Amino acid sequence: MEQRFAAQSIQQTTDVFHTRWQAPSNIALIKYWGKKAPQIPLNASLSFTLSNAITQTEVRFLPLKTPTKTVTFSIRFEGEEKPEFRPKLEGFFTQILPYQPFLIHYQIDITSQNTFPHSSGIASSASSMAALAACLVDFEAQLSSISAEDRLSKISFLARLGSGSASRSVQGPMMAWGKHNALATSADEWAIPVTDIHPLFTDFCDTILLIDKGQKQVSSTLGHKLMHKHSYAAQRFEQANAHLTEVLPILRSGDLDGFIPIVEKEALHLHAMMMTSDPYFILMKPNTLQVIECIWAYRKSTGVPVCFTLDAGANVHVLYPKAVAKEVGVFINSELLPFCENRQCVHDYVGTGIKKY
Ligand code: PMV
Repeated sequence: MEQRFAAQSIQQTTDVFHTRWQAPSNIALIKYWGKKAPQIPLNASLSFTLSNAITQTEVRFLPLKTPTKTVTFSIRFEGEEKPEFRPKLEGFFTQILPYQPFLIHYQIDITSQNTFPHSSGIASSASSMAALAACLVDFEAQLSSISAEDRLSKISFLARLGSGSASRSVQGPMMAWGKHNALATSADEWAIPVTDIHPLFTDFCDTILLIDKGQKQVSSTLGHKLMHKHSYAAQRFEQANAHLTEVLPILRSGDLDGFIPIVEKEALHLHAMMMTSDPYFILMKPNTLQVIECIWAYRKSTGVPVCFTLDAGANVHVLYPKAVAKEVGVFINSELLPFCENRQCVHDYVGTGIKKY
């Protein structure tokens, strides 16, 4: 048990407490793929925190007359009861209970919504777990003393237990999760902000192209598991850590020529792990490859520093500095949107993390 985050002497309350927090999604540049219990990453990862792809979560804590054994909660998402969300949340509450044992004294009513289009294929586990963790730690802060710094780390720590990548949605513009020797304060149990990055990267743009809005064939949970007996796992973890070492000075100096190949390699290596898992699977779609080819051709012919990354799905994240947003916007509209479902995309940019709303 991580002692730093054990709940301190708690002053229980008989009042109803109500709080609302929003959290953004994030996009990994150095990918996390492979973990061990309890949700410990097998390599360090690094991401841009986003601004527009957001989950807003409202939580009401109602004191119970008698405490229960497990956490009592209800969940409504975008106006509807969501029984299918319960197993994941039950697992989450079981994991966090040692760190927030006071939760068994309350009925916890959760109401949540996303700002990005429903079933867009944009993963909402990072934003939703970070927003929920922010509400839970806000409540803890009413019952006990917790420093501002510990509060953010604890939100990241709890969010990680719900979804690994959620640990990186708490602050911005760039977060690292997983112990890495080039980042002195990095940890496996929570994410830290990466400071001193060049201003070029603090307002980077990410246009998320919605290539395939269908349900993924293979979940991230299964994908992570398949890394346990993957023939290339050890090399992959080493390589991701090496990419992180390599990209840090690039982020500090603003070297786009160095940035682009690392980011694109990471995306393709992640998908290469999927294609070489046993059983193997492919999450990219033909249009994912069409878009990648168009980006390469455009970059080659114009010299405009635009590149792509992928998460565990078919959608493409088009990354570029704000300074070239105008011409890249024209390129996206004319050449990339035809490959998207109903020409849909989400224009996003680097952001600062969780916020009370
Ligand atoms: O947090 P999870 O379990 O959904 O895994 C996320 C994995 C990737 O999105 C593919 C990579 C990452 O680092 O975010």
